[in-house]
This record gives sequence, C-alpha cells and structure tokens, in this order.
Amino acid sequence: MKHTIIITGGAGFIGSHVVRLFVNRYPDYRIINLDKLTYAGNLANLADIEDRPNYRFVKMDICDFEGVLALMQQEQVDGIIHLAAESHVDRSIKDPFTFAQTNVMGTLSLLQAAKVAWDGRWEGKRFYHISTDEVYGALEMTDPEGIEPPFTTKASSGSHHLAYGSKFFTEDLKYQPHSPYSAAKASSDHFVRAFHDTYGMPTIVTNCSNNYGPYQFPEKLIPLFINNIRHRKPLPVYGRGENVRDWLYVEDHARAIDLIFHEGKVGETYNIGGFNEWKNIDIIKVLINTVDRMLGRREGEDMDLITYVTDRAGHDLRYAIDSTKLQRELGWEPSLQFEEGIEKTVRWYLDNQQWMDRVTSGDYQKYYEEMYKGR
Ligand code: NAD
Ligand code: DAU
Repeated sequence: MKHTIIITGGAGFIGSHVVRLFVNRYPDYRIINLDKLTYAGNLANLADIEDRPNYRFVKMDICDFEGVLALMQQEQVDGIIHLAAESHVDRSIKDPFTFAQTNVMGTLSLLQAAKVAWDGRWEGKRFYHISTDEVYGALEMTDPEGIEPPFTTKASSGSHHLAYGSKFFTEDLKYQPHSPYSAAKASSDHFVRAFHDTYGMPTIVTNCSNNYGPYQFPEKLIPLFINNIRHRKPLPVYGRGENVRDWLYVEDHARAIDLIFHEGKVGETYNIGGFNEWKNIDIIKVLINTVDRMLGRREGEDMDLITYVTDRAGHDLRYAIDSTKLQRELGWEPSLQFEEGIEKTVRWYLDNQQWMDRVTSGDYQKYYEEMYKGR
C-alpha cells in the first residue's frame, strides 16, 4: 500500500534519519517533512535527499492547528510519525513553558488536526508518536560494579556488557517523570492514548532510550564531547559522572520506527533499547581514547580535559530499557555493537567538521533561506 506520511521534526537528529530511511526505502510513498526549524532543526542534515521526487519539506509549527489541518487535507495524508519536540533536558530546566507549548500543545494540535482530517475514517490511518524512556523516571543503581544483563543484544555484545541493577523500564510501569522535558513528553503520551481510547484513533506510542550517531545537535553529551576533545576544551561532567544511560545507535531506532509504523499493533506501546547501559564517565573515557587515536594522539592523552561540574538539577540516576516486547512480537533487534557504533560516530564527526562548524557558528540556519527561497 502507498502512503502519504507527515514526519514531524524531520530536520532534527532522529527525524532526519527517519526521513532518509523512508525516502530511500519507499520511493512510492510521499514523505512530507514538517518542521519549524527551531535552533535544533538543520536542513543540511538532509542535503543528500532534498531533491528526491517523493520528498517535500514544509516549514511549519506543529502548534499551527489550521496549517496542519489544511496540509493534511491538501495532501491526503494517511500517516503521521511525530518526532517534533523540544528535546534537551537542560533547556527544559531553564524554560519549561516552551516545552509545555511544543511537546504538549503541539502534540494535541496534531492529534486534533488528524481527528478532523480523518473524520472517523480510521481504516489505513496511523498516528505514531515517538517518546522517550525518561517518562518512566529513574531506576535505582543496585549494583554500582555492574552485573550480567538479562539479555545480550548486538548492541551490548561488546567488551563492556553490564547492567547496573536488576530493574528495567517495561511498558506497564507507572509514569514518574522528573524534569520539565520528561513531564511534557509524559503528558503528550497521555494525550495520544486518550485519542485512541476516546475517539478510536489508530495510535501507537514508542519510548526509546538515548540515541547517538551522526547529525546530533552538539549540546548533547556525545557530539559536544567529541568536538571538545578535538579542540582540547574542558569536558563538563555533571556530578561524579556515575549516572547511567542506555545507548542505541540512531539508525537502529529509525529501523524500529519503520517496522513499528508498518507492523505495530494499534493502541500499543513499545519500548525500544538495546540493553546497553553505560556510566557517563566510562563513555567519556571511550570517547577520549577514540578521538585521540583517530587524531594520531596518544590514547588517553586528553583525560585531563575531564572537569567535574555542578550536577544537573533532578538528574535521573539510571535509565535502562527492557525492549523484550518489541523483540518478541516484531522481531526487532539492534544491528550494531556499541563499540562499532561509537567508532562510526566519532569518525563521522571528525570527517564532518564543516557540519559541526556551521552548527556551532550558527551558519546552518541560513541553509533554509538559501535552499528553499522561492520554492
Ligand atoms: P532534536 O531536538 O534533534 O530535533 C527536534 C526537531 O523538532 C527539530 O528539527 C526542530 O526544529 C523540530 N521542532 C521543534 N519544535 C517544533 C515545533 N513547534 N513545530 C515543528 N517542529 C518543531 O530532537 P531528537 O533528539 O531528534 O528527538 C526527536 C524525538 O525523539 C523527540 O520527540 C524526543 O523526545 C524523542 N527521543 C529522543 C531521544 C534522543 O536520545 N535524542 C531518545 C528517545 C526519544
Ligand atoms: O533517554 C532518552 C533521552 O536522552 C531523550 O529523551 C532526550 O531527548 C535526549 O536529550 C537524552 O537525554 P539525556 O539528558 O540523557 O541526554 P544528554 O546528552 O543531555 O545527557 C546524557 C548524560 O550526560 C546525562 O546523564 C547528563 C550527562 N551530561 C550531559 C551533558 C550535555 C554531562 O555530564 N555533561 C554534559 O555537558
């Protein structure tokens, strides 16, 4: 079956990988990238596919209900994959209103536009909402030394291979968000399920762990630190660097989204992750060794860049996703071992210094004006 799909937030980090995958894999689908181009949106992330006949970019705010509705009717949209959001926890601590506006009101505006456009004709329609593991709150670290995880996936099959507690985030856990970011995402998840339960809208929600890979905005740990190591700038480690995150290569997330969009069960929630837990400080050491080696420096030469700074307010201690349901029901697994993913990622940022320089200088925001003027 052919689809016309709006992908929101397609100019961001994960969204750009999802847009690329769908445009390349489904030449007979029409893919509409709807993005407001906030500071986090960068159309250069999609330079390789922007001239494809099955791709269209629309600069629009998801909060613009009338605009989204008109677009859906004009294009006869039958699927929405919703990634647009304010996504950075530190920004949400400084400016919670923007997070509530985009993540809650924006999601509600999209849902309402889809409800009006589809008008109860749910057959063949799908509203797929991308959320985060942060809605579940934080897990205890019961074993700081690390234990065998219940599962080994491709992502966790490398040398590291540890879990830092016996509890994991499962789909049936109560939501306990702690940051304004995760509170806003939790609220948006509730609205999506409410539209399913109240109106019968065919919705799906997925909650994924930390992503890493090319095109991530360098305010997030991995690209920020790669760039700082390269330029020998201090690496601001929050607290003692003991917090644990569960890392997934971004293309594996995009593959999961593709599979779930097509084969996921309506009304369901799926967790996405690779049982790949790392303490921040351990990842940072891997990044220093990898960047040093790739730049021809002595491995570990830049360890003294590590600078412990005041902890993030309300900093969640440990995230660990249990993605057994997705594995069991749809057969999804990560395709990449973490060590391979980190090598690819560091190599990409070092090889794409111009992309990084344009982002850090602010020049990337001119891309839209140059490429889309008059279109
Ligand atoms: P990002 O910050 O890199 O990109 C967000 C995109 O949304 C940008 O292109 C931005 O311009 C756009 N956007 C923001 N506000 C908008 C608005 N009002 N209207 C239209 N577009 C708007 O984010 P990301 O890291 O790619 O995350 C994408 C989604 O995945 C988010 O919903 C996030 O909560 C979720 N998620 C992220 C991670 C992660 O590790 N990055 C993990 C799990 C889930
Ligand atoms: O778990 C999924 C979430 O992962 C997504 O929902 C969010 O959108 C995404 O931003 C990410 O959130 P985190 O807060 O975990 O990511 P971040 O890269 O900001 O931080 C990762 C860890 O590193 C976290 O424990 C805080 C720490 N950190 C981060 C930065 C930017 C530092 O110690 N120093 C830093 O400078």
